[in-house]
Amino acid sequence: MHQQLLKLELTGFRTYETLSVPLEAEVVFFIGQNGAGKTSILEAIGVASVLRSFRGGNDRDMIRFGNPFYSITVDYSSAGKNSRQHVAFGRDPSLTQQKDARRMSLNGEKINRSSEFIGRLQTVFFSPDDIAIVDSGPAERRRFFDILLSSLFPGYYENLQNYQRTLKLRSALFKSNSKPDNVYLSSLDKELAKAGNVILGRRISFIKKFEPAFQKYVALISGSRDQWRIVYRPTILAQDERNYFQELEKNRSKDLRLRQTTCGIHRDQIAFLPEPAGSFEEQNPDLSRIASQGQKRTAALALKMAQYELTREVRGERPVLLIDDVLNELDSTRRKHFIHFLHEIGQALITTTDVDSIAAYLAERKDIRTLIYKIEDNHITLTNP
Ligand SMILES: Nc1ncnc2c1ncn2[C@@H]1O[C@H](COP(=O)(O)OP(=O)(O)OP(=O)(O)O)[C@@H](O)[C@H]1O
Ligand SMILES: [Mg+2]
Repeated sequence: MHQQLLKLELTGFRTYETLSVPLEAEVVFFIGQNGAGKTSILEAIGVASVLRSFRGGNDRDMIRFGNPFYSITVDYSSAGKNSRQHVAFGRDPSLTQQKDARRMSLNGEKINRSSEFIGRLQTVFFSPDDIAIVDSGPAERRRFFDILLSSLFPGYYENLQNYQRTLKLRSALFKSNSKPDNVYLSSLDKELAKAGNVILGRRISFIKKFEPAFQKYVALISGSRDQWRIVYRPTILAQDERNYFQELEKNRSKDLRLRQTTCGIHRDQIAFLPEPAGSFEEQNPDLSRIASQGQKRTAALALKMAQYELTREVRGERPVLLIDDVLNELDSTRRKHFIHFLHEIGQALITTTDVDSIAAYLAERKDIRTLIYKIEDNHITLTNP
């Protein structure tokens, strides 16, 4: 079973005033020049899936210049049922209110909580920028797993929101007050321990399952040349909430001195280490410090392939793949391996600037339904041969 997008409708999103694209096919190509609006289409589907942009930026940036809001409507089928998901952001022209707000609905029914929206439509986004997940600091790595876990496990997102909200209060307290009230501090730490411990447990057990899938795909793309372990290094090695709380308590005087919260799930490290690292471990041979450009690219791709596999395992359905300009980035052997991977997937939307890079793929896959769209001057036309 797999999820399948049926149709996308946009209003005031990025370069698009309005757009309506049928997507009923196993593979949908978007071909266009730089700046034509290819990534924007995948980005919109991503927002309908996890309520944030894969490009990082904020919601305002996605509103077409001069428009009061953007709106995204996605029709898709999942578990044999058709659904319609809608999300809009900005000023509602029918109301007099001037503040930006988000509005969500599912099959016409209003949804108030983000946590009820996220994770219904499952997508895996492949981008050349994915290299940042393995090449930047721990924040990018945590962000990758946090978004994934939010969309896979009900409750994760809410715990993360609670945690971040409470963490802000704690930091503000330390910044404004050199002798904070202990009762209040304890109540904050209790909140942090409660949410933090759930997140910690999820991350530990998930990364354990994620690692073998990741390793399998690294081997597949690199022809077994590369090998990496994923090592999760928590700052609090708690077994339970109480233990987590006590660790926070222990660190209070240090935190007060430094005016920040120095331990907890917001400070945890996720390391990618060569196998076997053995006695070199004290040198901290993290992928970001020792891997070549191609090895980094391979690891980034494998992360997303593993995301696909784990999503399928957890949800019992294959997610939709959104593949942004990745084919152009790969050398011919890697491209071949990646295209081979695409054989087992459900539905994929693929952008590219030149048709040549997909010719081999099209020649190989005469068996499946394909749509080829060309994007030019904000117009999208079907160009199937
Ligand atoms: N809020 C906005 N309002 C209007 N136009 C925007 C907005 N945000 C971005 N754009 C424009 O949208 C266009 C489409 O960008 P997009 O990233 O989708 O292009 P692309 O086809 O993926 O290009 P590339 O091949 O370079 O990756 C760009 O020209 C960009 O300047
Ligand atoms: Mg692009």
